[in-house]
Amino acid sequence: SKQTLLRGRVLSFTAEPQDPQDTSAYEFIEDGALLVADGMILAKGSYGDLAQQAADAEVIDHRPNILMAGFIDTHLHFPQVQVIASWGSQLLEWLNNYTFPEEVRFADAGHSAEMAGHFFDLLTSHGTTTAVAYCSVHKTSAEAYFTEAARRNMRMIGGKVLMDRNAPEGLLDTPVSGYDDTKELIAKYHGKGRGMYAITPRFAITSTAGQMEIAGALVQEHPDCYVQTHLSENHDEIAFTAELYPQARDYLDVYQSYGLLTEKMLLGHSIHLQPREIDALAETKAKPVFCPTSNLFLGSGLFDDAGLRGRGITNAIATDIGAGTSYSMLQTLNEGYKVLQLQNQKLHPLRAFHWITRGNAVALGLEDKVGTLEAGTEADIVVLDSRATHAMDLRMQRAETLSEELFILQTLGDDRSIVQTYVAGQPMKA
Ligand code: GUN
Ligand code: FE
Repeated sequence: SKQTLLRGRVLSFTAEPQDPQDTSAYEFIEDGALLVADGMILAKGSYGDLAQQAADAEVIDHRPNILMAGFIDTHLHFPQVQVIASWGSQLLEWLNNYTFPEEVRFADAGHSAEMAGHFFDLLTSHGTTTAVAYCSVHKTSAEAYFTEAARRNMRMIGGKVLMDRNAPEGLLDTPVSGYDDTKELIAKYHGKGRGMYAITPRFAITSTAGQMEIAGALVQEHPDCYVQTHLSENHDEIAFTAELYPQARDYLDVYQSYGLLTEKMLLGHSIHLQPREIDALAETKAKPVFCPTSNLFLGSGLFDDAGLRGRGITNAIATDIGAGTSYSMLQTLNEGYKVLQLQNQKLHPLRAFHWITRGNAVALGLEDKVGTLEAGTEADIVVLDSRATHAMDLRMQRAETLSEELFILQTLGDDRSIVQTYVAGQPMKA
């Protein structure tokens, strides 16, 4: 089979860097290469060694750009590609005024298919090769999502949202239809090719107790599927949730009491948490998801990364499109850095780039498949130009270390720094 040798400055993380100088957590090869065939990385090493070893391979020279594992976005909404940048409100009004009316349109298969094309184009043009997405309530939207993911051979996770109250008529399922549709989608897409399913009760406010029960049954029947929802994003949301579920000890207890809280659970936002909720997250190994651009845009609050990490909790990081304001995981790091600065917490560049690659892979339990450039993993690779803009180029003239270069990329970079994105070894840009 055809072998390709990608030449460039190779950076791959093997552990989470513990401090800004932790060189044991990664390998950086200045004149490096990746040998790729059949969608997999066969070898990582110096260009000299690999060129000798694979003399017949086609060489693609990406020097002086950096080769890194493709970025992983652990929380975003596929039906919100035309919601991003909607003015003026915080969470509940934003959902009612902008988001719900837009998601109604995904009942239409043609619209879903058209938007799926745009959605996947945007992911890879921003360097993202794996994502965990909410589809709309309609089965059609999840079908369009997984069909497009398979067409592009991308490792994608997603699910149709379960929602049966507090939303417009055109966005409601029922406990029974939500259960049946989810079962059908799991059978059709979970573990097929690179697709994986996430059971997706949208959040406590939009599901009745009856629907939470069927969500719990789905989780029990499909322990290898992911589970995703939203938790404690906004004060009005938390108050309304307490009214709807008066017997729950706190917000997380709504999910916990229906059997949804496991290590396969991704909890978007997780900002305003009670001590008991943090204990429960630590015990169950569920994963909070930091969504910095969204939390700033909706004025939701400041995610306590250090506090949760200090409890041994593994935090993921994500864009949360369409409340998030950029598809770029680089811009997500940029805003995340600022959110942590406001709390006197630090995000150093080695940990930042580990987070959007291997770190998010670890949160998904997928680090043996994606998130690194180690031999035997899937060939999802991003090619990064640290001098993509005038501002970056000028600043790079004064950069002396890899960490400085990475910090410039994470602060000033966006899709202009994405020279190429390989998905299962195939270039996504012409
Ligand atoms: N909570 C419930 N649904 C949503 C959503 O679509 N976006 C955000 N940011 N929060 C939510
Ligand atoms: Fe969200």
